[in-house]
Amino acid sequence: MPELVDRFGRRHTYLRISVTDRCNLRCLYCMPEEGMKFMDQDRLLSYAEIAEVVEAAAERGIRKLRITGGEPLIRPDLDRLIGRLASIDGIEEIALTTNGLLLAPQARKLKEAGLNRVNISLDTLDPARFRFIARRGNLEKVLEGVRAAAEAGLNPIKLNCVLLKGINEDEIETFLRMSVEQPLHIRFIEYMPIGHDDAGWRNHYLPLGRVLETARMKGYELEAASEAPEGSGPSENWRIRGAAGTFGLIHPISDHFCKNCNRLRLTADGHIKPCLYWMDELNVRPALGSREALDALLDRAMAIKPENHEMAALLAGEAQSHVPTERRMSQIGG
Ligand code: 5AD
Ligand code: SF4
Repeated sequence: MPELVDRFGRRHTYLRISVTDRCNLRCLYCMPEEGMKFMDQDRLLSYAEIAEVVEAAAERGIRKLRITGGEPLIRPDLDRLIGRLASIDGIEEIALTTNGLLLAPQARKLKEAGLNRVNISLDTLDPARFRFIARRGNLEKVLEGVRAAAEAGLNPIKLNCVLLKGINEDEIETFLRMSVEQPLHIRFIEYMPIGHDDAGWRNHYLPLGRVLETARMKGYELEAASEAPEGSGPSENWRIRGAAGTFGLIHPISDHFCKNCNRLRLTADGHIKPCLYWMDELNVRPALGSREALDALLDRAMAIKPENHEMAALLAGEAQSHVPTERRMSQIGG
């Protein structure tokens, strides 16, 4: 079967699968505090349906999967889905992005089912600030999740830290030190304007140049960590000399990010999104049950995949060339 190559020559080997749009947190960069409307449960793809899409995609060269949400660990028996996906020919790696709250009791079971790695969202190490950003939950549970993931051998562990101007920028140094002391990969992420009213974003968007400035000011010697850790995608990776871990910068807005895009997304309600930014998506439901129809859908995703997002233009107040998505980040899966 032909590989999934788009109009710009980008080969697609990576599929992100959102299994629910629900979440036990309400992070301020992701969802409103109250009144979030969730998908009807009967609109979610079943595990068998997800596996069918993955079988078709794996035959076309998808090798790596990431399970996302909302919060994926809310979906019952996620280990069952992971076991099923791990047995599909061609799938080489399965990762999970989670907020970590429910991870500690499940880490071992997930690993045994075939999960290889986790990314855990962690924007602050201050319990009160955690409640301010995530509005619910508790930091200690997340840290327990991080420890349990390490104990279960879900390596390398990456921590996703969305930097927010005026909220957690003073913790850059703390996170950098964490990468020195522990074998963790800290991923600093630029706040993206996805499915958002814009004001919060404009007030709290922080370009990631600040991270390297902070590292230099502290006198840290930086080495490029390009080989480490596997599957980093759009992340620019660094190691502080002598550090146990590494850190990375994901700066979709202040720097390019799309040139090497190798990913497709499948939403929990069964839509293939060729790009997280734009509204175009393809409903897989009518194609289920027919490999030919699923193949045609994947071809179509390659045909309509845009060259890039236009977040920088949005920040500059310039017109958009096309219609941005109205989905929230929690309905896309990051
Ligand atoms: N900008 C950047 N990152 C975001 N995430 C969620 N919303 C946004 C946003 N608006 C990140 C979370 C999580 C991952 C699923 O996506 O921090 O780690
Ligand atoms: Fe939940 Fe993740 Fe969104 Fe936070 S960013 S509300 S943890 S889905």
